[in-house]
Amino acid sequence: MSDMLILGIESSCDETAASVVRDGRSIVSSVVSTQIEEHKKYGGVVPEIASRRHCENILGVVRKALDDAEITLNDLDAVAVTYAPGLIGALLVGVSFAKGLAMASGKPLVPVHHIAGHIATNYLTFPELEPPYLCLVASGGHSHIIEVLSYTQFRVVGRTRDDAAGECFDKCARAMGFPYPGGVHIDRAAQTGDPSEFKLPHPTVAGNEFDFSFSGLKTSVINLIHNSQQKGVELNFNNLAASVQNTIAELLTEKTMRAAEALGYRRVALAGGVSANTGVRAELSAACERRGYDFFMPDKSLCGDNGAMIACQGYYNFINGITADESLNAVATLSLEDL
Ligand code: KG4
Ligand code: ZN
Repeated sequence: MSDMLILGIESSCDETAASVVRDGRSIVSSVVSTQIEEHKKYGGVVPEIASRRHCENILGVVRKALDDAEITLNDLDAVAVTYAPGLIGALLVGVSFAKGLAMASGKPLVPVHHIAGHIATNYLTFPELEPPYLCLVASGGHSHIIEVLSYTQFRVVGRTRDDAAGECFDKCARAMGFPYPGGVHIDRAAQTGDPSEFKLPHPTVAGNEFDFSFSGLKTSVINLIHNSQQKGVELNFNNLAASVQNTIAELLTEKTMRAAEALGYRRVALAGGVSANTGVRAELSAACERRGYDFFMPDKSLCGDNGAMIACQGYYNFINGITADESLNAVATLSLEDL
């Protein structure tokens, strides 16, 4: 019985988060401090403000994660931290802090890729899940179809050509007057909406048949709203939200199923901030069920950015010999395949 305790630190965007995870699978403590209220005023994340808030919050968040777990630094086996991709100033706060902790405690420092962290949320939700499987990661910055070859090896088989799925949700929501981040507001409005009123485009993407494109959908929603405003016609935003959600869910599901069939995967997972979306969860799980595939999606509490996913992936990196030395730096853009 190894009983390994990993501290995970996440600060790539607008959540300062820390968590202690046991043996990569069970959450001992998890603390997430979100800055959403502050960024809302600007309609999106302001990088400079995000860095400052991380700097102010990180010590308290990490201390609370250790206190809640009723452990001290000495009890840890390693300190894991998100080092890429994300807002550079935001990442630097987490990386620098983790380095200091590693030095003070004499514990190993483990670098974690943010998207690998999102994928790991399913290990926390399904203790029996093991690679290989196919995973759709849809978040504010990424829409990827990924072959999870092992706990630490990934192949990206599809990606977005333009906007990410979450970005599309947020931009459509903004056009409808919802506050940032709007994805969850579209989700709520869609609950009572009828998706059949608005037919939105399903773009065709030339080249890689597993790639996504969401900018056309966003543009058509923005045009629809502008045109109706000019004519003084009031749109039913619940119906429009239902249409946007259905269309995004269909696009994500179509490509993921196509990739699963072509590559021979019968186990499919969903992860990333957009995995919280009711429509996406339902559409992808129904499509998997029809084909007899096993389907995995994270507990709702783990969909957004958190420290537990970094501690979980940190565990798998650590036991596979992936550690960092004192020269670890933050990286704003880094493909999962380049680890
Ligand atoms: O993974 P995440 O927390 O941050 C990134 O790594 O980007 O993802 C945030 C994205 C935002 O675009 C947000 O609107 C979207 O996830 N999101 C949702 C829902 N909850 C979060 N989109 C649609 N429906 C939701 N319920
Ligand atoms: Zn994320």
